[in-house]
Amino acid sequence: MDFWKQFKPGFTILAPMEGVTDIAFRQVVAKAARPDIFYTEFTNVNSYSSEKGRPNALKRLEFLPEEQPIVAQIWGTKPEMFAETAAAVRDLGYQAVDINMGCPERHVVATGGGSGLIRTPELAKEIIRATKTAGIATSVKTRLGYSKVDEWRAWLTNILEEHPDALTVHLRTKKEMSKVAAHYELVPDIVSLKNELSPDTKLIINGDILSLAEGEKFIAMGVDGLMLGRAVFQNPFCFEKSPRAHTREELVELMRYHIKLYNFYGLAPYDPLKRFFKIYINNFPGAAEIRDQLMQTRDSVSALAVLDKMENPDQL
Ligand SMILES: Cc1cc2nc3c(=O)[nH]c(=O)nc-3n(C[C@H](O)[C@H](O)[C@H](O)COP(=O)(O)O)c2cc1C
Repeated sequence: MDFWKQFKPGFTILAPMEGVTDIAFRQVVAKAARPDIFYTEFTNVNSYSSEKGRPNALKRLEFLPEEQPIVAQIWGTKPEMFAETAAAVRDLGYQAVDINMGCPERHVVATGGGSGLIRTPELAKEIIRATKTAGIATSVKTRLGYSKVDEWRAWLTNILEEHPDALTVHLRTKKEMSKVAAHYELVPDIVSLKNELSPDTKLIINGDILSLAEGEKFIAMGVDGLMLGRAVFQNPFCFEKSPRAHTREELVELMRYHIKLYNFYGLAPYDPLKRFFKIYINNFPGAAEIRDQLMQTRDSVSALAVLDKMENPDQL
């Protein structure tokens, strides 16, 4: 159970992002600049617990030994399924599992899962207890509340009473989605509450943090870790300890690496890969035009040909 204890204050995490932080993209980020910890995309415990859904759940949970330390994130509503899935996660070689209690997507909330659990605090507690039975480090990622910011104290108290090994707070309510600025002003009070109720829980802050430098002030306030998500879309090198400017060539090299891995892991279909192109083809004269060409491609061979042509315009 020492997973979280190995990290010193100021540790960094790539946020779990459905459709983004798959095994291919995590390796892209690792190549650019590794965070201290990776999280998987979330996996539904119902999927794992059903014979039909299990192969897909296992595919989502695939990871490489060199990705350690990595946390598997799971979601659902049935405590017994959390226990079963957490045990499977442990047997796959993970040392830590995270429970999603923050997802605001309609289809997730409609089931009572994700941020829907904020409305059923007793069930949320039961789920933490059930997950812990697997004997691996157990953490929670959640929001401040469901509809009002001032729900935060009662809701985080409810979670901290179960003493999770780590707690990530995305500093918004479910209702706020990602539409308003994160409530950084609450950080000192959240640190105090955590220290009072569960001092051994690692506290991680998330929401709108674009660089590690920006997050340093939270570490000074007593936060243990910083979780960055969308920052990686603006700068895939955002986990660099000593940030520097990167050339267009470096970004294109990362994109080639991403395409190669996406194919290698059979992460078809091709079209979702296009959402990533803006990360790499950006901020240089003619970037928009190249992106247009890339968006019209139907497979990775054609995308690589567009990159070749961009880099060697005279040879083709
Ligand atoms: C495309 C996308 C997918 C996401 N999927 C998940 C998920 O599977 N699990 C989760 O806990 N949060 C998920 N989130 C929320 C992020 O982990 C994070 O809490 C949120 O983006 C705020 O942090 P940021 O401002 O650093 O991006 C997702 C966010 C995005 C943009």
